[in-house]
Formats: sequence, structure tokens, C-alpha cells
Amino acid sequence: MTAQIIDGNALSKTLRADVAARAAALTARGQQPGLAVILVGDNPASEVYVRNKVKACQDNGLHSVFDRFPATLTESELLTRLDDLNNDPNVHGILVQLPLPKHIDSHKVIEAIAPAKDVDGFNVENAGALMTGKPLFRPCTPYGVMKMFEAHNIALEGANAVVIGRSNIVGKPMAMLLLEAGATVTITHSKTRDLAALTRNADVVVAATGRRNILIADMVKPGATVIDVGMNRDDNGKLCGDVDFAGVKEVAGFITPVPGGVGPMTITMLLVNTIEAAERAMQQDRD
Ligand code: GUN
Repeated sequence: MTAQIIDGNALSKTLRADVAARAAALTARGQQPGLAVILVGDNPASEVYVRNKVKACQDNGLHSVFDRFPATLTESELLTRLDDLNNDPNVHGILVQLPLPKHIDSHKVIEAIAPAKDVDGFNVENAGALMTGKPLFRPCTPYGVMKMFEAHNIALEGANAVVIGRSNIVGKPMAMLLLEAGATVTITHSKTRDLAALTRNADVVVAATGRRNILIADMVKPGATVIDVGMNRDDNGKLCGDVDFAGVKEVAGFITPVPGGVGPMTITMLLVNTIEAAERAMQQDRD
């Protein structure tokens, strides 16, 4: 069996057309949706991610504010800037790229973003809303993965789903969204005793660890859906995910490639969340 490839670029193109139409409608009513992106320091991977986020805004009719600060920025300077952005009516979404330099407390920074503008969905209020089944913003990467299941009619109700990785950015919210969709969810991590025994019983596997080849062919149930959130470099410096793509695609039913899988979906869902924030702000102004 050769798996069907889930093409994140193609799906993003369709979803971004809808984003652009909604952005144009808001702009026509006098409120162009706006995203503020903050990068602190010079992590090369973060620079690429942030550049792609800002470009995606420009390409789809959203206004973007890009703040690039040196690694020497103090925590209180960053908090002051967030306060300004929280109060700026032309900014509907705020994203502080993680990781932050060590002298800055990321938890404090995430909590300083107004929940209504927290388009990453990372602060305690938004994480709690997701956990209790009333999400305001779904975190972008897991939200993008859910859109991939939807686009390919992959049934989640009653499915056994294994999430590999327990980060606040991907693993934990992914598990919550799968649970909300009726899957039986197992979260695994570096201390899990027998990962293969769990994945072999899974209809859906989402790998989000940052470790190459965490999932190989003999760990996968024939016909399963395999989603690769990893972003790593192989020995030749080529981009690759957490999954042994060449081997697993011969066993799985559906699989996402790296690049061209989950990556573009993360940015697409950031745009969607920003549009939703702007639409809510406009609605509130009218109430
Ligand atoms: N770093 C890695 N992924 C993300 C993300 O989705 N949002 C932010 N803010 N930082 C990240």
C-alpha cells in the first residue's frame, strides 16, 4: 500500500483564498485585520518562520506590524510593547515568536497578551477555554492538522489517536482537539515505555517531537493516518520531519510530507485566527 499524500500547500491555498476574501470584506468596512509579530534575538529558524508569517499577511490582505528586537531586550521593555499592542485598535492578533531568550520569562510574556488578541491560543485563559470545550482560538498547528483530517474525510470519532510529544504548542492542544472530535487519545513522550505498542494500535498518529525517525514503518498500523509536525535537518542538511517518510508511506493510508505538509497549515491557521479576532472586534464595536 502506498499512502495518499496530504498536501498542506494545496489545502492552504484553498483556505487562504477564503482568508483573503474575509480580509477584503473587513477592509471594505473600514477595518483591515492586523497582526503584530514580535521576534526577539536572532534564532535562524525563528527568523524564517516570522518572515513567512509576515509575508503571508501581506499576500492575503492583512496588515502586519513586525517588531524585531535584539536579544538584549529586557522583559519589561517587551511587556511595555505588548501593552501598547493590546491597546492598538488596528492590531487584532499578537504573536510573540518562541523560544524567547533565557532572561525573559515566556510564561509572563504569553500571559501579558490580551486573550482576545492571543491568536496563538497559548495563554492560560485560552488554553483553559480549549480544555473546557469552548475554544476562543485553537492553537495554529493542531488547528491546521484538524483541517487536514476534515479535508480528507478522515474519521476521528471512536478512532485510536496517538500524539507523540507533550508540548504546550502542539502535543497538548492536539490531544484536546482530537478528544473534542471523539477520538480515544493517548499522549506519549520521552518517558513512554513502549511507544511502538501504542502506535501499532493507532488509527491516527501525530508526531511532534523534533526527533528524526521517531516513527518508522514497523510501528505503524496498515492504513493509519500519519501526521508529521517535525521540522528537522537530515545528515545532508535537508529538511525532514519526525517520521521516516520513505518507509512509513508504504504502510500508512494517509501521510503528510515535510516540507509541504503541516508547515504551511500553521501559518494559514494563524491568518484564520487573526481574521476571526478582527471580525469579533468589529462585531463588538457594533454591539
Ligand atoms: N515557535 C514554534 N512554533 C510556534 C508557534 O506556533 N507560535 C509561536 N509564537 N512561536 C512558535
